[in-house]
Amino acid sequence: MGNTEAPSFSSAFVLPCVFVIAMAAVESAMVFADATDTVAADRPLSGSQRLLVSSRGKFALGFFQPESSHNWYLGIWYNQISKHTTVWVANRGSPITNPGTSQLTISTDGNMVLLDHSSRTPIWSTNISKITSNSTIGIILDTGNLVLADASNTSIILWQSFDHFGNTWLPSSKLGRNKFPGVSTRLVAWKSRNDPAPGVFSLELDPNGTSQYLLEWNSTKQYWKSGNWTGRIFADVPEMTGCYPSSTYSFDFISGENESESYFVYDVKDESVLTRQQRWTPVPVDGGEQARWWRPGGADWRRSG
Ligand SMILES: *[C@@H]1O[C@H](CO)[C@@H](O)[C@H](O)[C@H]1NC(C)=O
Ligand SMILES: *[C@@H]1O[C@H](CO)[C@@H](O)[C@H](O)[C@H]1NC(C)=O
Ligand SMILES: *[C@@H]1O[C@H](CO)[C@@H](O)[C@H](O)[C@H]1NC(C)=O
Ligand SMILES: *[C@@H]1O[C@H](CO)[C@@H](O)[C@H](O)[C@H]1NC(C)=O
Ligand SMILES: *[C@@H]1O[C@H](CO)[C@@H](O)[C@H](O)[C@H]1NC(C)=O
Ligand SMILES: *[C@@H]1O[C@H](CO)[C@@H](O)[C@H](O)[C@H]1NC(C)=O
Ligand SMILES: *[C@@H]1O[C@H](CO)[C@@H](O)[C@H](O)[C@H]1NC(C)=O
Repeated sequence: MGNTEAPSFSSAFVLPCVFVIAMAAVESAMVFADATDTVAADRPLSGSQRLLVSSRGKFALGFFQPESSHNWYLGIWYNQISKHTTVWVANRGSPITNPGTSQLTISTDGNMVLLDHSSRTPIWSTNISKITSNSTIGIILDTGNLVLADASNTSIILWQSFDHFGNTWLPSSKLGRNKFPGVSTRLVAWKSRNDPAPGVFSLELDPNGTSQYLLEWNSTKQYWKSGNWTGRIFADVPEMTGCYPSSTYSFDFISGENESESYFVYDVKDESVLTRQQRWTPVPVDGGEQARWWRPGGADWRRSG
């Protein structure tokens, strides 16, 4: 299928261009008879046997346990590959003990909430203060984006997981900031391989307003920087020039007028290119960042660089 080995990177921040090459063959589409992509007040999600599945089957949302962990989390993962690979977790720092008594639903104020039968306050919530719509639903989209939308017009998005990154940067999600409505995204590593709680490494666009990305430790110590965007690459990542040209992917740094919004985004042009991801792991010895790709017919993710 024309996979190309990615070049080796010495930098801690492996840019998306090297792993978007990744492709995944559709293996076992895990079919659940009652799978829907929507959660509503009268259709909550509960238990380890039920999932929401995006309309074309790419992503699933449900309860899962990280490897060798007794804790349960509500998360999003690839639905069509054999290796469970989490891309987003709602209750990162607040695990639950029993998915059977926990519920993802829509609360009376319209927010999407994760409830445990024993607690009155939500374990997790989209937490929007003023929802004017009188009916909202949660939908898992084929991009891997979980949205809270107006039930009468699902184009009206009130909240989206793409504005709240976990440790994984998915195609078409924007890592950066938007002054209106004041969204700033940040990749935050897991605490450890089996604990999705926020760890010490994070990656974000320089809050001082330059176009460089900063890899930080404990939100304070700068660990690595990408250098400013030159219009084609980041100054301190000359390897990016090796990313051109490509018929399968695109990437760009976008800076709006008066820096009203600035972000880096990458995407695939070919719909058949199913998965690629940036996996962000908190392993300081190798820089903490790993780009991963999936070989068609493969059994596990492979590391780029
Ligand atoms: C919800 O938002 C309010 C104000 O923005 C904040 O104080 C509160 O901690 C948030 N609650 C949760 C569960 O995130
Ligand atoms: C929601 O509001 C619309 C008008 O804005 C109204 O027609 C509809 O009956 C309301 N639905 C509910 C469930 O209150
Ligand atoms: C739904 O919302 C979108 C975005 O606000 C709007 O462009 C569209 O006209 C709306 N559709 C209907 C049927 O109201
Ligand atoms: C951001 O600005 C502050 C204040 O000028 C400075 O101390 C800090 O080093 C700057 N950060 C970076 C990453 O340049
Ligand atoms: C990066 O860009 C900022 C303006 O956004 C500029 O002030 C700064 O000098 C640039 N840094 C380098 C190393 O060129
Ligand atoms: C991490 O940052 C916090 C402030 O955000 C600081 O209080 C703490 O000492 C830092 N930890 C270490 C080990 O530097
Ligand atoms: C950008 O700033 C200029 C000058 O301050 C102003 O005239 C213009 O309206 C601003 N544009 C936007 C989109 O805010």
